[in-house]
Amino acid sequence: MVDITDRVRNKSLHDKIVSAQEAAAFFKPDMNVACSGFTASCYPKAVPMALAERMKKEPFTINLWTGASTGPELDNALAAVKGIKGRLPYQTDTIIRQQINDGTIDYLDLHLSESAQLSRCGYLGKIDVALVEAVAITEEGNIIPSTSLGNTASYVQSADVVIVEINNTQPLELEGMHDVYIPLDPPNRVEIPIRKADDRIGTPFIPCRPDKIKYIVGCDIPDHTRALSPIDENSKKMSAYTLEFLKKEVELGRMPKNLLPLQSGVGNVANAVIAGFVDSDLEDLTVYTEVIQDGMLDLIDSGKLKFASGTAFSPSPEGLARFYKDINKYKKYILIRPEEISNSPEVVHRLGVVAMNTALEVDIYGNVNSTHVTGTKMMNGIGGSGDFARNAYLTIFYTPSVAKNGDISSVVPMCSHIDHTEHDVDIIITEQGLADLRGKAPRERALEIINKCAHPDYKPLLLDYYNRALEATKHAHTPHILEEALSFHERFLKTKSMKK
Ligand code: COA
Repeated sequence: MVDITDRVRNKSLHDKIVSAQEAAAFFKPDMNVACSGFTASCYPKAVPMALAERMKKEPFTINLWTGASTGPELDNALAAVKGIKGRLPYQTDTIIRQQINDGTIDYLDLHLSESAQLSRCGYLGKIDVALVEAVAITEEGNIIPSTSLGNTASYVQSADVVIVEINNTQPLELEGMHDVYIPLDPPNRVEIPIRKADDRIGTPFIPCRPDKIKYIVGCDIPDHTRALSPIDENSKKMSAYTLEFLKKEVELGRMPKNLLPLQSGVGNVANAVIAGFVDSDLEDLTVYTEVIQDGMLDLIDSGKLKFASGTAFSPSPEGLARFYKDINKYKKYILIRPEEISNSPEVVHRLGVVAMNTALEVDIYGNVNSTHVTGTKMMNGIGGSGDFARNAYLTIFYTPSVAKNGDISSVVPMCSHIDHTEHDVDIIITEQGLADLRGKAPRERALEIINKCAHPDYKPLLLDYYNRALEATKHAHTPHILEEALSFHERFLKTKSMKK
């Protein structure tokens, strides 16, 4: 067994240290299991893997709640043995995605800022066990999390039974990087007193009564972080449009010289946009975001970033090694909060965040689909994009203008599913250009988006659709030909095959 006795500082808890198999024996069919983890950071690993082994011999399912997506030792391992019935609030795993779309898993795709509250208020059922990764347990029994906070503090607060996995690959220096604050629920809620990205309002640990801790398990499996792709030309262009635009906003006096706190979404485009800031002449930037990726470390190293607040540190494997190597330096710049706080509509609105997220498709009026491929198949989930898009000072969405090697236009007449409405979207950026939708009525927005963002292969088709819709509706407020609006891809592919 992995030796973790030094990290369990409350000696009376030492007799609760058991093997992963012993802890896994505690789980029963249909339990609501609420885990730590947000991206491939700070999720339990040893117990879920032992549970998956048990499920191979003795098939049953549980409902899995987390902060967001997690790593393969949890999501993938349990899904591979068909061990998950319900899943919330966000995921990115290939097998889980497949099982969500073939009816095996019931998936609740939730705004991340709301998921802790929903669980605390009991709408989702009772938490049977909270299973959380930690770097240590304090003398008082409190839990020091590792690389993310997500919903862990709320899950621990609501659960009667807590199982802690102490991961000795996670450095003890992570202690002190967290700010745990759980808001009261209505009608007792008060304002969240954050006025700056670096304001501390809570405790550096997750409060936990020692008697709630049922088992403690040692783990020596590191976070299975994901590699980032090299930054491609399209992403570089999108980053350049962003910088040019933000500089103009500063010139126009709409933002201070160091901009407003930045939020950037998950994945390669988001990371590339942040990388563009590194080579800019911007200084004293602040970040109030959900996930902190490699680009933020670059910003810190370049001396351009004053502070970054998020709920998870989600680097590439190289980024994680770099962070660990210089953790005492990076620690001064980074704070990890519960996702209810990192994504809080109230705080995002107060700070005036600039929200930068990625879309699957956008329509000509500015509605955005972030989740459903062709309107029915779940990709990942809305994640925090809605928390930020609705409440930010400025809401930007990115998408390459085409997908699937050009067979699909990401600019369409009508989104097949809408996560973010035209009322929340200010700017759309593709590698073709930037559409500024602010102050524009729907008909103006349509021309701005088609002309600035659509791929040249699709621009004539989109303009043709728009002009015919104008005619058909006699210049209605939002012109559409409903029977045609959603068959745009099919028509394009038909035209393409006829040309061959
Ligand atoms: N129609 C059909 N498929 C499309 C498509 C479209 N318009 N646009 C992209 N796709 C496909 C891609 O081909 C790719 O398929 P593959 O996995 O088979 O290769 C897949 O969707 C993912 O596309 P990709 O361009 O690699 O996406 P990404 O990694 O940049 O992620 C989102 C884009 C929208 C899926 C991702 O940002 C997301 O899940 N967002 C919602 C949550 C969020 O924004 N969180 C951050 C908030 S803080």
